[in-house]
Amino acid sequence: MKKLEVFGANKLNGHINISGSKNASLPILAATLLSNKKVCLKNLPNVKDIHTMINLLQSLGSKTNFYNKKLIINNFKQKKNFASYALVKTMRAGILVLGPLLAKFGNAKVSLPGGCAIGTRPIDIHLKALSKLGVKYKIVQGYVHASAPKGLIGSKISFPKISVGATENLIIAASQAKGTTVLSNCAIEPEIKDLVNFLISMGCSIKWIAKRKIKIDGVKETKETTYSVMFDRIEAGTYLVAAAVTEGNLKINNLIPSIIKTEINILKKIGAKIRVKRNQVHIIGNKKIKSMNIKTAPYPGFPTDLQAQIMVLLCKGNNKSLIKEDIFENRFMHVAELNRMGAQISTNGNKAVVKGNISFTGAELMATDLRASVSLILAALTAKGKSVINRIYHLDRGYEDIEKKLKKVGAKIRRLK
Ligand code: UD1
Repeated sequence: MKKLEVFGANKLNGHINISGSKNASLPILAATLLSNKKVCLKNLPNVKDIHTMINLLQSLGSKTNFYNKKLIINNFKQKKNFASYALVKTMRAGILVLGPLLAKFGNAKVSLPGGCAIGTRPIDIHLKALSKLGVKYKIVQGYVHASAPKGLIGSKISFPKISVGATENLIIAASQAKGTTVLSNCAIEPEIKDLVNFLISMGCSIKWIAKRKIKIDGVKETKETTYSVMFDRIEAGTYLVAAAVTEGNLKINNLIPSIIKTEINILKKIGAKIRVKRNQVHIIGNKKIKSMNIKTAPYPGFPTDLQAQIMVLLCKGNNKSLIKEDIFENRFMHVAELNRMGAQISTNGNKAVVKGNISFTGAELMATDLRASVSLILAALTAKGKSVINRIYHLDRGYEDIEKKLKKVGAKIRRLK
């Protein structure tokens, strides 16, 4: 099993270039199934989840060529509509092929993704919304068997709760439904806007008509396109916290600062000095870190995918902080491991009380999910002594070249086999 060895506590200094967004790439890859023409995607991150999604597309009959962050997809002969458990179980975003397969073939059999470490993560919102487009479905032996006997038919749908995945699945499906679909109470994460821009570049007819409302006129045909995926805002946020927590000095490049306004404002309030340029955020960490209460929320709120990372920073705050996790019911898996490094965090349901003024000490650790893994690296970077982080396959699902990027700015980090 691969592990990471980290020696703290030195200040990070230099430049880090942000990669393409995993969470924007995954729905865009699923959406390529709508096309029978050549699609070229650029700036894809070279991480495990992207390879899993490409494998899933190949298993459905797509021809792909992935080289140097660029993927060329040909779907001329894409005819299969069965997504197997083996591929969907490791990555929940596999369920995003359901919408495009239904749009293309009128029926599909897609494995249920199952639960994961951070919560039960059902897909009821995806399925109920698809049924409003004329889809009949049943769940048999862990698979969704879905069909649209009359094809997908446009409809007015209001999501009962904001869901990133359900919004994406429905936008993709409705793009080739008959007639017009209006979706309300949509998630408006920047990755969804990126998906919409990609679909428009492919010839789909989609328009935001209010803050959380989108109108989609189904089209029959798509066209060839070349599209470059947006930057990874969670990776950017992670390195901003890395600078703040190590009292470092980092220039984070290849991003659009306005997209991460919430994170920048919170880091400023916590005490970091931040200067923003067109495609760069320059951050200088402060010795004095102010405690703060934070709750996670759908965009433009503070992202749940940065909750574990900010918790590490708040352990060094000048007082007690409160973190409320409002998106996933079980996203405090990192707490026990951080406490083994000297943190004093107690949880009660979806709330965590974080005691401040903590000095971390190195320890042998176990990573539990993608963002929890990276929070352990952040704690290890600021800890006295050596930490060894086990089970880092989670990390490889979503962070491109993390050791290389951290090493370049002065971290003592290496991978052990
Ligand atoms: C996506 C992101 C993930 C991020 C999350 C929230 C990808 C690949 N993943 O996940 O990194 O943490 O958004 O920003 O982009 N829910 C239901 N029923 C459903 C769907 C969702 O109850 O059918 C619940 C979930 O359990 C969760 C909440 O709604 O409590 C939000 O989930 P959702 O926004 O759908 O997250 P994902 O799309 O799975």
